[in-house]
Amino acid sequence: MSSPAAASPDHAAAPASGSSASSPSSSFSSASFSVSVSAPAIRAALDLLGSRLPIIQAPLAGVQLSALTLAACRAGAVGSLPAALLTLDVLQRELQLISSGTDQPYNVNFFAHVTPLPDPAREARWRERLAPYYTEYGVDPATITSGFGRQPFNHEVADVVEAFKPPIVSFHFGLPAPDLLARVKAWGSRVLSTATTVEEAVWLQAHGADGVIAQGWEAGGHRGHFLSADLTRQCGLMALLPQVVKAVSIPVIATGGISDAASVRAALALGAGAVQPGTAFLLSAEAITSPPHRQALRQPDLHHTAVTNLMTGRPARGIVNRLMREVGPMNELAPAFPMAGNALAPLRAKAEAQGSGDFSPLWAGQNFSGLKELPAADVIAALAEGFDEGVR
Ligand SMILES: Cc1cc2nc3c(=O)[nH]c(=O)nc-3n(C[C@H](O)[C@H](O)[C@H](O)COP(=O)(O)O)c2cc1C
Repeated sequence: MSSPAAASPDHAAAPASGSSASSPSSSFSSASFSVSVSAPAIRAALDLLGSRLPIIQAPLAGVQLSALTLAACRAGAVGSLPAALLTLDVLQRELQLISSGTDQPYNVNFFAHVTPLPDPAREARWRERLAPYYTEYGVDPATITSGFGRQPFNHEVADVVEAFKPPIVSFHFGLPAPDLLARVKAWGSRVLSTATTVEEAVWLQAHGADGVIAQGWEAGGHRGHFLSADLTRQCGLMALLPQVVKAVSIPVIATGGISDAASVRAALALGAGAVQPGTAFLLSAEAITSPPHRQALRQPDLHHTAVTNLMTGRPARGIVNRLMREVGPMNELAPAFPMAGNALAPLRAKAEAQGSGDFSPLWAGQNFSGLKELPAADVIAALAEGFDEGVR
């Protein structure tokens, strides 16, 4: 079992390169710039993560299992396992595969949302709005299941995870209740969580996070906000990152729109200690991205994304599809997270059986420049070009 403290990464002894050995800021020049491993922000992030590279492969719920996690770990990054959609049995199996497949640090990711109260009236209005599609696809609305699907991190899940003591545990939508968080920290995991605003970053530091993932508006998948649902408070990574770096003293991991070496360099220049790319991995060989999702990602003319609440009830960025065009992208009728997806499930299944992503979440961020149909190791090698030789 690896742990960040035990991983003894060789970066600690890596020589600083270029002219930046004594002064990190001196490594920047207008002609070409590199960010040295001697930069305190990167050193602190590597100490926290325990990996060779300051890269976390973003947890990508629905499009990956342990194969991508392991490939990322073996390539020197922190591989992630998104656990929010997994049953306890599958979680146990995937953790077993990861812990026996690598001695490098890995991350297990959970949602920390508050489960909403059922709201049958809102559910009924949402189904009414979708009625024309049920008619078109021959779906009987009476067969739609209700229920929550995605459970937040809880003690039952913690019972499974504790046996593995993953080096890193990350959360989306805040942090779990203090007793649960204390349990995770007590077994030795380092804890990360997402901030979409400076206020959230400060809150996470004050409530026990060991590192904060600053999520820019560009990011694919769910927005990680938890203090305010007002999306106008959220901004692009270029505006968010330097303000978060200034506001907290724990390592800051940048996520959103980081897809190639150039955007890695930009994030490091703005003070990030590490990066967490997601979209860059969506076409990688080890991802299990669905055929309609892959098809949309392969077509540059479909690279138009928007933030939508239709798929799950929480705002998330994905490629604009028929449902988003005709019903959204935002619609106040969509039930609270994670209930909105129930009414879409039969439409999604029928459309996907015909090869269509018209009703599917086609999560993707705004920067498609690093999207590659290659093994994850090659994606990571391309991203690592954004670091100077002392790091990669
Ligand atoms: C398909 C997909 C699924 C995602 N699932 C999760 C998840 O389960 N947990 C999480 O914390 N973030 C999730 N994210 C968000 C990523 O962690 C990350 O913030 C985002 O991918 C970064 O932006 P980028 O896509 O522009 O690289 C997901 C993103 C995508 C594209």
